[in-house]
Amino acid sequence: MGAEPLEIHLEEHDLAAALRTDVRAGLTAADKWLPPKWFYDARGSALFEEITRLPEYYPTRAERAILVERAADIAATTGAKTLIELGSGSSEKTRLLLDAFTRHGGLGTFVPLDVSVSALRQSTAQIAREYPGLRVRGIVGDFTRQLDRLPTGGRRLVAFLGGTIGNLLPAERAEFLAAMRAALETGDWLLIGTDLVKDPSVIVPAYDDSAGVTAEFNRNVLHVVNRELGADFDPGAFTHVALWDPQQEWIEMRLRATRPMRVRVLDLTVDFAEGEELRTEVSAKFRPEGIAAELAAAGFAVPRFWTDRRGLFGVSLAQAV
Ligand code: SAH
Ligand code: AVI
Repeated sequence: MGAEPLEIHLEEHDLAAALRTDVRAGLTAADKWLPPKWFYDARGSALFEEITRLPEYYPTRAERAILVERAADIAATTGAKTLIELGSGSSEKTRLLLDAFTRHGGLGTFVPLDVSVSALRQSTAQIAREYPGLRVRGIVGDFTRQLDRLPTGGRRLVAFLGGTIGNLLPAERAEFLAAMRAALETGDWLLIGTDLVKDPSVIVPAYDDSAGVTAEFNRNVLHVVNRELGADFDPGAFTHVALWDPQQEWIEMRLRATRPMRVRVLDLTVDFAEGEELRTEVSAKFRPEGIAAELAAAGFAVPRFWTDRRGLFGVSLAQAV
């Protein structure tokens, strides 16, 4: 069938406007921040793929182990006609689901949605080649803003893998789950991956690897702002910081200024003191009872919850009720 041309829910100018709004809000705040979705230009998406292969970065391997064991059950339980994947990236682990659905029968359409055009282009072309019977409809979109535009009709399964839900702040997460429920019909399914709370001695190295790939991924947001908005950040003058917050139970990535700096971006002059930090990502870690409660509050039942053998990562199969 081949991949259809990408469906654009987010035009270049919408993306640029959203980046301007975020940069203005984040860099003028008393505690500076930028949202993590801006990591993922072509270079950032490639760096993320490299992260998934690092010895310290356990979430991808742990989630893959769960899907290897459970994909057949997921296909049989959901009987989905359409698989939608949010923040799909390379859709590497999703192939386990596509294989299971191929064996089970009945899946007609795969809809990966991502803000990264480069990641989507590659993944849709490859998946259409590998699964010739499948209709592949890639969507360039923002899952925090455009869930009301997901394809309708037929039993749907929405996959949100990788633990990406943990990159939303708690209020954003509640808003996301409510919007997700509103976008689904009763009986539709949500498959959601969450990294689990564990000893920080396991978590911190996953976000501060010895090869420095995560540091480069972190600094990539400054390259994106330089290129897209003509800013004059010196990315090399910022060091990577990964900090476990035991109260919030999340890891925070920050960029720390190694010297005083004055950055020009848009019509702003942004001053950094030496040692000042810019928060670029939170990555929340979950407890099984917390995930179940958040899903229930949004209108989902959770008939299945699986972890890998070491209990590092969790996958919930939830149904809209
Ligand atoms: N699901 C893959 C990729 C995770 S990386 C995995 O499990 O390995 C996170 C992905 O989410 C990236 O491809 C990034 O481009 C995408 N993303 C981040 N924020 C987004 C947003 N607000 N809307 C859509 N996609 C987003
Ligand atoms: C995409 N997301 C779930 C990753 C995470 O682990 O929070 C992004 C990442 N940040 C640093 N390393 C990987």
